[in-house]
Amino acid sequence: MRVLLAASEAWPLVKTGGLGDVVGALPGALRGLGVDARLVLPAYPAARAALANAEPVARSALYGADMTLLRGDLPTGGRRRLPVYLIATDAFERPGNPYHDADNVDWPDNPARFALFCRAAAALALGHLAPDWCADVVHAHDWQAGLLPAFLSLHPRRPGTVFTIHNLAYQGLVDGDAAAGLGLPAAWWQMDGLEFFGQLALIKGGLAFADRLTTVSPRYAQEIQTPAFGCGLDGLLRHRADVLSGILNGIDTAQWNPATDPALLGRYDAEHFDAKAANKAALQRELGLAVRPQALLVGLVSRLVQQKGIDLLLDALPRLPDGVQLAVLGSGDAAFVAALRAAAGAQPGRIAFVAGYDEPLAHRIQAGADAFLVPSRFEPCGLTQFYALRYGTVPIVTAVGGLFDTVTDATPAHLADGSATGIVCSAPSSAALLAAIVRTHTLYQDDRPWRQLQRTGMAKDHSWASSAQAYATLYRDLLDRSRN
Ligand code: ADP
Ligand code: GLC
Repeated sequence: MRVLLAASEAWPLVKTGGLGDVVGALPGALRGLGVDARLVLPAYPAARAALANAEPVARSALYGADMTLLRGDLPTGGRRRLPVYLIATDAFERPGNPYHDADNVDWPDNPARFALFCRAAAALALGHLAPDWCADVVHAHDWQAGLLPAFLSLHPRRPGTVFTIHNLAYQGLVDGDAAAGLGLPAAWWQMDGLEFFGQLALIKGGLAFADRLTTVSPRYAQEIQTPAFGCGLDGLLRHRADVLSGILNGIDTAQWNPATDPALLGRYDAEHFDAKAANKAALQRELGLAVRPQALLVGLVSRLVQQKGIDLLLDALPRLPDGVQLAVLGSGDAAFVAALRAAAGAQPGRIAFVAGYDEPLAHRIQAGADAFLVPSRFEPCGLTQFYALRYGTVPIVTAVGGLFDTVTDATPAHLADGSATGIVCSAPSSAALLAAIVRTHTLYQDDRPWRQLQRTGMAKDHSWASSAQAYATLYRDLLDRSRN
């Protein structure tokens, strides 16, 4: 079975968030199951540099743009290497973040850039670009790849299509002249096409046209069918409920392993746990926090946007209990950056904030913190709570989406039966968040239940094995049905 995965980011070539982690790991896991999975991404300069063995394999003109198809491969952790295609056109020749400029402002031509990417990926999937390979199934991720199922729907003999929603809040909205400039069929300017309140929503290319829809946790698959979480698209998703399912993300357990992590000062596992304390002291020193073994050190690593509940945390900070320290790493909205900077300035030695994107520091926070905060308003899956569990760092989460699905609250009953793995905050509010932090602090004072929480979390298996199997089954089912 030949499967082409298409997305705007994939670690280790380019990553801004969890999409990159998932698209970086899933194809390798699929290849481990014998699926001929391949990846296609835009050839951002950094991605091209990171894929050192990429060679041009085809050239073409697409909707007026010169395009070169590059092909290279990446190690997967298993025996097989992962073939990777990069779409090189002028539109992607910009340094830095794939989506925005150095001031965090989205490139205004993003819809056109990713429409071009989708045209190229469709041609590749159909065997029009690299004649030695075509796809049986195309798996497109998020709005940047949304037009791919739509373009493929125009071909009578085409691969099956799967579209995965990693975040419904990002919709690829485009209006007026810009929309006209995309050269899409006039029939798509309708409610059952891409039209969305007078604009086009490129995510609808996936939602309306793909044969199968998935999202990244079972809970989020339910939530997005409600007005509260549906971002205006819940009606369409209810309409397509029979082809929509939630498949929980996995994590790359080689990259995120406290026993081998090269970013850490000391490595540890559930049996040899002593080095966690050394990581904590090192983190406190690195970030200018008071080096106090008894303090509850709470970490947070996140994009700094409304979704992530950063404002809830900011409101709670002045009332943080004595004995709690906070280490935050993040980049995003300028207002959150400024507010976190001010909070750290107001409570030096207790609150540390590092602005920016820093992969090794993200690992050191996971290892050095005692607890890890994910106070999201909504969270399709969330990956940092998985990393925290694996690093023996107790997650404090809101009860939404994948967080709801993956953390078992430390209620007296769950503590007694040994199923508790973290602290679940009763509502996305600063009062509830503060109460959850206080509850965590109280639990932390008592060694035995705390150690049990850590052990239960570390014993969980969140590797890709079962999720990759679920995707492989979905692809196979889709092919079987299209043959019959
Ligand atoms: P989202 O995709 O919504 O941002 P996830 O929890 O799925 O949320 O994934 C976030 C990923 O990005 C994790 O791997 C996390 O460690 C990483 N990350 C987020 N912000 C930063 C940062 N400032 N520096 C390093 N890694 C970060
Ligand atoms: C999105 C979501 C996040 C999810 C990630 C990977 O960025 O916000 O919850 O974990 O995609 O699927």
